[in-house]
This record gives sequence, C-alpha cells and structure tokens, in this order.
Amino acid sequence: MKKEKRQALHFDSKAVYCPPDEATKSIAPPIIMSSSFQYDKEIFQRIVDGARKEVNIYGRCGNPTEYQFEEQMMMIEGADACLATASGMAAISVSLLGLLKSGDHIVCDWTTYSSTHEMLDHRITDYNINTSFVDTADIEAVRSAIQPNTKVIYFETIANPTMKVAAIKPLVELAHEHDIVLVCDNTFASPYVMRPLELGVDIVVESATKFIGGHSDVIGGTICMKSDKLPADFLEQIRWNTMVKLGAPIAPFNAWLLSRGIQTLSVRLERQCQTAMKLATHFERHPQISKVWYPGLESHPQYEVARKQMPKFGAMLTFEVKDADAALTVLDNLDLGCFSASLGGVRTTTQIPALMAFLDIPKEQRLEMGIKDGMIRVSTGLEDADDLIADFDTALDKI
Ligand SMILES: Cc1ncc(COP(=O)(O)O)c(C=O)c1O
Repeated sequence: MKKEKRQALHFDSKAVYCPPDEATKSIAPPIIMSSSFQYDKEIFQRIVDGARKEVNIYGRCGNPTEYQFEEQMMMIEGADACLATASGMAAISVSLLGLLKSGDHIVCDWTTYSSTHEMLDHRITDYNINTSFVDTADIEAVRSAIQPNTKVIYFETIANPTMKVAAIKPLVELAHEHDIVLVCDNTFASPYVMRPLELGVDIVVESATKFIGGHSDVIGGTICMKSDKLPADFLEQIRWNTMVKLGAPIAPFNAWLLSRGIQTLSVRLERQCQTAMKLATHFERHPQISKVWYPGLESHPQYEVARKQMPKFGAMLTFEVKDADAALTVLDNLDLGCFSASLGGVRTTTQIPALMAFLDIPKEQRLEMGIKDGMIRVSTGLEDADDLIADFDTALDKI
C-alpha cells in the first residue's frame, strides 16, 4: 500500500496494517535479531558515501524490526518521523539532549513523571541546562517563565499522577511565538486517546512500555515529530548524534512486541476508558474517598479543556482516601487489581505515587506537585468493571 493511502486510513486500519515481509511474504513481521549485518563492496561504498538508515550497519545504529515499529508509530501518532528507543526515559533524554546544549533553558510543568523531574532538576543541570518548573495549565505562568535562552517547553498531556490536562493550543501559540520547541509526554493518554502532533505540538514522546505494548511484558519508548520549527531530518540527526552515541536504541524483540501491541491498542483502550469512567464515578460517591481525579468527571479542574482536546478521557485515574495512612491497606487487600509499579497493561494496576514512583522527591516538593500521601493511582485493565468495583469496595471496607 502506498504511504499516502496508509496515512489516509482511519486509526484502527493504520494500527493493524503491516506490509508483508518482502523476502518471505509473511503477514506478521519477522524479528531480525542480528546485531550485525554483512557488508559487500557496494554496501561498504554506500556507507563510506554517507548512507545510514538505508543500509543495515550494526544493531545499535538501527535494525529492520525497529524501523517497522517506527513506521507503525508514525502512522498512529500522525507523525512525519519517529525514533524508537530502549525505554520511555530514553525517549525523553534523547529528545531533550538532542534539542538542548549548555546554557539552554527549559520551562517544564511541575508535575511530570518522577524520573523526568529528577533528570531536569538534578542531572541535566550538571551540563548547564536549567529548568523553571511551572503549572502549564496556567498560560501566564508559562509566559512569565520564558527566558531569552528558553529552547523547550515540556509537559505531560495527562500528568502523572495528578491527571492535570493543560490546554495545548495556547501552549503551541506561546511556544511558537517565541521560537520554542513544544515537547510533550503522551504516555498516560496513548495515541488512541490523544494525538498532540495534530494539535501543533512539535515532538511527542511515549513510554511505549505502557498502553502501546499493553501487556506489561516489554520496555520501550518513542519520539515522534511533526514540526515546521525543526529541520525535517531532525530525528535522523539525533538518531546518529545522540541516540546511537548514548546507546539508547530499542532491542529488536521489544520493537516486535510493541508492533504487536499497537494492533489492539484501540480495542483495549476503548474498554479501558469505559471502565475508568465507571470506577471514577463510583469512587466519587464512596464514603472513604475524599477526592477523585479523572479528566472525564465534571469535577476535574480541566474537564472543559479535556472535553475539547481529547476524544477519550483515558484509562488512568487517581483517588485520595480520607485516611492517608490507609492507602496501603486498600492496595494490599485488592485481589483482582494488581498492586505494582507501571501502568497501561491488560491487568488493572494500582500504586501509591507518593511512596512509590515519587519516593525520592522530598515531601515538600511532592506536595507542590500536587502529590498527596493518600493518593492511589489506578490504571484500568480489561477485567469486568463490576468485578473491579467489588474488589475495590471490599478493600476499602478494610479501612
Ligand atoms: C508519564 C511517564 N513517562 C515516562 C515514563 C518512563 O517510561 P519507561 O519506564 O518506559 O522508561 C513513565 C514510567 O512510568 C511514565 O509514567
């Protein structure tokens, strides 16, 4: 199928379509596990002359299974280019290190995944790249934080774990007015729930480990781009000068698992979003629960924004138990819901963000991010919603 025809398809068709393998005509893509590829005189000369992605050189420099996954991701994100990385964090660090140099400045939301926050707050500062943390739902706060050396504005489309949904259009306008690249992490939403590139964001990163893989059995990440602010070959440049040099590409088997996961993304998410809405509505009425954050609830602070920019409200929600010390009791008494790190799989997973993903962030800073001790984060899976509600009710009764 011609690329233009594939691009014009609806999401579901793009997600399942895969061109047959040229050598074998298999309709499922093969996994090319080789770490090295044989040269001949002609290939050798092409590489000497500067060919890179068009020839197979060495596993860290690229692999046909990785390229096949990148193509599929490009289709479902509506991107012009994609890089697959070893993890979501590799996608974040490769894209930021590719965009920034010593002396540059970032404006970033207060609430991002803990490792992202820590990298910006402590690690990248060693290379003289500094960050101002603001609330990106407050466009005036973002405007005030911009400095002459600001090169990137960074946010999460649904923030981990507060479920904040910043309005994207004003951020796009502000960033582009100042020649700043707008980068977002779309992990909590997934490309089925939100496609930020279609709203004008320049670069979107995903922890493919989560909804894209969908089965809690693989780690990977992606960087997708559609931007007239950046050179068309920007991702190819950072493939070579950043990802390959830092040793951050995806392994072929992981790329293959993620390609398989994409094929069922929409059917999984359709159901997972419905279940999240049911749970959120139920939790809002529960006597042991003081607050629920889900973008589909009218009580969510950015409900109107979410309604306008997200075709679905996602499969992630957070609630707060009235007695903060009881959060562990609740999770430890779940039978069906799985008390574990990570999210986005077919099993419902739960965690206490303050004491798990954000444990290394001092409490004062955590509270500034809006992360309270009694918060419980839920990633809804494919279990029956009524069974899940009964499971949570039994666990909440133990308080
Ligand atoms: C929002 C978000 N972004 C990025 C990451 C990092 O992903 P990975 O674990 O694939 O490196 C995570 C991990 O939980 C996350 O929740």
